[in-house]
Amino acid sequence: MDVVVLGSANADLVVEVARRPAAGETVLGSDTRIMPGGKGANTAVAAVRAGADVALIAAVGDDDYGVLLLDALREAGVGVDSVTRVPTPTGLAFITLTPDGENSIIVSPGANARLTTADVTLGDAAVLVASLEVPIPVVEHAVALAVRDGVRPVVNLSPVAELSAATIAVLDPLVVNEHEAKLLADYSHGDGPRSTVITLGARGALVITADGTEHIPAPQVDAVDTTGAGDAFTGALAAKLAAGATLPEATRHAIAHAAESVTRKGAQG
Ligand code: ATP
Ligand code: RIB
Repeated sequence: MDVVVLGSANADLVVEVARRPAAGETVLGSDTRIMPGGKGANTAVAAVRAGADVALIAAVGDDDYGVLLLDALREAGVGVDSVTRVPTPTGLAFITLTPDGENSIIVSPGANARLTTADVTLGDAAVLVASLEVPIPVVEHAVALAVRDGVRPVVNLSPVAELSAATIAVLDPLVVNEHEAKLLADYSHGDGPRSTVITLGARGALVITADGTEHIPAPQVDAVDTTGAGDAFTGALAAKLAAGATLPEATRHAIAHAAESVTRKGAQG
């Protein structure tokens, strides 16, 4: 196993709208597309596409959406032995997509909230990558196990949540977007992570290590749907780190992979 991913699996219910409704307003949208999503599942699929052998730790419900997500993961080549089925609805993401490719998302966690520390097993993975639509104590437990077992811990701080200073300190890297980076600056985080990658949307990413800060630009593409760009980025990054790339090398690959992903519709496109 190269990469073990800990995170959410959601059914994405996507409606295209000309513009977002204001409070109290109704707008008509497109038919609803139902797509496999969730930050954990998207990251796992991206890591497979970047060449890694990948297992996902996640939870889906005992409904048809759970079947849809498991089928999509298997078809993508993600190991699903650690995807549990629990007697609750599968996580859902209600996504509105505007013509500029931007989205707004409401997540109803469902089964994702039922994940427990007992579900975490890292096997012989080289890299653990976690995101935060699952309970924070489970993420912190997984990171602690990773450190104990010599697995490189990577966390995508999305959606933004507070992690303990002890967890932050071992991340290599912590991945944040610009918005999350600003919020992070408001907390006190001890010594900070071992390395940080700040994603900058169409402008690429910043890699911050003990050696300094490097800006790596993104190729210009025609973005039609940026949903899951951060997940595509983090999955590809983890795959390349597991294959032995340096952080700047892995970031270059991740930027190329994420740029490609925003030219297609759907979070796993
Ligand atoms: P999201 O929440 O939409 O999944 P994010 O806010 O976590 O994404 P971003 O910084 O917007 O993260 O995007 C992650 C990476 O995806 C960027 O570092 C870049 O490599 C790529 N990317 C995103 N948008 C574009 C774009 N318009 N053109 C090229 N690359 C892009
Ligand atoms: O990052 C994009 C993902 O966020 C979507 O697939 C949605 O499920 C939410 O988890």
